[in-house]
Amino acid sequence: MSRLEGKVALVTGAASGMGAVEARLFAKHGATVVLADVQDEAGEAIARAIRKLGGSAEYVHLDVSDEAQWVETISRIQDSYGHLDVLVNNAGVYSGKDGLVEEYSEKDWDGVVAVNATGVFLGTKHASEAMKRTGIQGSIVNVSSIYGLVGAPAEAPYPASKGAVRSFTKAAAVQLAPEGIRVNSVHPGFIDTPQSAGLMDDPVERAKLVDRTPIGRIGTSEDIAWGVLYLASDESSYVTGAEFVIDGGITAH
Ligand code: NAI
Repeated sequence: MSRLEGKVALVTGAASGMGAVEARLFAKHGATVVLADVQDEAGEAIARAIRKLGGSAEYVHLDVSDEAQWVETISRIQDSYGHLDVLVNNAGVYSGKDGLVEEYSEKDWDGVVAVNATGVFLGTKHASEAMKRTGIQGSIVNVSSIYGLVGAPAEAPYPASKGAVRSFTKAAAVQLAPEGIRVNSVHPGFIDTPQSAGLMDDPVERAKLVDRTPIGRIGTSEDIAWGVLYLASDESSYVTGAEFVIDGGITAH
């Protein structure tokens, strides 16, 4: 079934983890996928693999924290395809240390917020402008986290940035609804990807995470990608400003 037939979708952070799986799934469902990342070799390789399977995909270098690069990317998509229907603001970073609030510097804070929160703002701004200009009733999916909803036991900039994504998504949803543009947030739980490898590869830490998950297993990138596909497609045409929690039940208790 081609749930995204005829749509052009831009997925950020598509060189790794969930973004790469989302790009593959979107292409399988008929979308032309533009994969964006700062890891150029890995991103090019995934785009090539999609094309080899008969899908339509290209890779572009885009640092989501840089507004000039957003302007360039969106205008390139406009020139090549004439429209942009879906943006998945998936790119994200973690500070790299599990500390308490007082252990973080302003530099740590700014680095994470620049990608996770400012990147989502810039993407939403430039994609929605292009959608409005071309009369596209598009879908923007912003990847937050369970730590945009509940308190994180460690870290400071990461949960702050993910909370910003949650509330910004709702503001954008309200403001863009009259144009028919939908904006939703996705809140993954503990998902096995390169970003979480440090934790997941330690059997003791992994067991603790499984213990905290009512469904009794760690999530996969596919678990998240199916939810993002639903929000990207017209199946969710009455859904905007929503928080799609995909966490095996962690935040249910
Ligand atoms: P990942 O590390 O495998 O992939 C993230 C991608 O974002 C990488 O390819 C990286 O190069 C790219 N990226 C980093 N900075 C960038 C920038 N400035 N511009 C463009 N691309 C950039 O991570 P994963 O786990 O697939 O994460 C995807 C999203 O899901 C992130 O927003 C993350 O915070 C979020 N998330 C992850 C969870 C997990 O357990 N893995 C849980 C909840 C949320």
